[in-house]
Amino acid sequence: MNQITSKIAGTGSALPKTILTNKELETLVDTSDAWIQERTGIKERRIAKNQENTSDLAIAAAQKALKNANLSANDIDFIIVATFTPDSIMPNTACLVQAALHADHAVCFDLNAACSGFLFALQTAHAYICSGLARHILIIGSENISKTLNWNDRKTCILFGDGAGAVVLSISDSSKHALLDFETGSDGTRSNVLTLSGFQKSFLQMDGQEVFKFAVRKVPEIILTLTQRNHLCPEEIDWYFLHQANARILTSVAKRLSLPLDKFPSNLSSYGNTSAASIPILLDEYHNSHKLLPGQKIILSGFGGGLTWGSCLISW
Ligand code: UT7
Repeated sequence: MNQITSKIAGTGSALPKTILTNKELETLVDTSDAWIQERTGIKERRIAKNQENTSDLAIAAAQKALKNANLSANDIDFIIVATFTPDSIMPNTACLVQAALHADHAVCFDLNAACSGFLFALQTAHAYICSGLARHILIIGSENISKTLNWNDRKTCILFGDGAGAVVLSISDSSKHALLDFETGSDGTRSNVLTLSGFQKSFLQMDGQEVFKFAVRKVPEIILTLTQRNHLCPEEIDWYFLHQANARILTSVAKRLSLPLDKFPSNLSSYGNTSAASIPILLDEYHNSHKLLPGQKIILSGFGGGLTWGSCLISW
């Protein structure tokens, strides 16, 4: 009997319908479409309506992921929502998702590690499955960042968008289709560079340059740790799904690893930075368009507030 491990069995995503373009932002703050595109790669982002919550996006993404995995809500043992913008402090957003889906057997909790939240939730779920505590876990990265932004602050409001991405992680007995390894970490001594002191009571604040420098140094480092530990070289990885924060971060990481940029999928131009949702949204787009082939090696990499970072090596 092979060792028990986990695999991604289905994906789904949901984006608000309302589009906010760079041109429209020009009417709100002293910025330009040219500056935003050149410095970030973003053209437009999606913005949730006033009454549209993080849970609404999470539920829509979760329903698609369940369908894609050919499972019913009854099969789900845990629901983990990675978010720093929950509907409320209590109840947690995962319980709201459970109620909507009728996932009656699920244990539900939220996990906050900002833009690394999806990676940390994936590692948590992987550990539950490998320990025999669960067979199927719904992991959702869902954010409603627009409601935390100061729309007079051009250094932050141009960057972020709302959305949700979900995966179903299921038990696997084959390392050919499995999450193979993780490299994760945190540095709380640098918590001041990206903050939101109280959801719905304050604004997101960011020292963009510090986060940028951290990302372009840390991400290649953890990718190399992960590949070396698994006797792979970076060229042998088919896809690098990085957190979508800034197109220049993707370019810089690719350059530092001496890799072609076409190994680094991106949807920044359409959605901006959706924090914990960015990686599962992108994964869903690629999975849905059949770009991911069985056995391909994939690395997911998240980084952000905390500071936090995490990478996962997958055999698809
Ligand atoms: O999700 C994880 C966390 N977030 C990130 O990973 C974000 C990482 N950081 C970034 O993406 C970039 O630092 C930003 C996009 C936020 C900013 O880009 P930058 O190239 O680092 O710009 P900067 O802050 O160094 O500012 C350069 C200039 C400044 O003007 P002066 O002082 O040179 O005259 C800014 O005032 O650009 C100005 N500026 C803008 N101009 C037009 C800053 N924001 C804007 C803007 N429009 N929106």
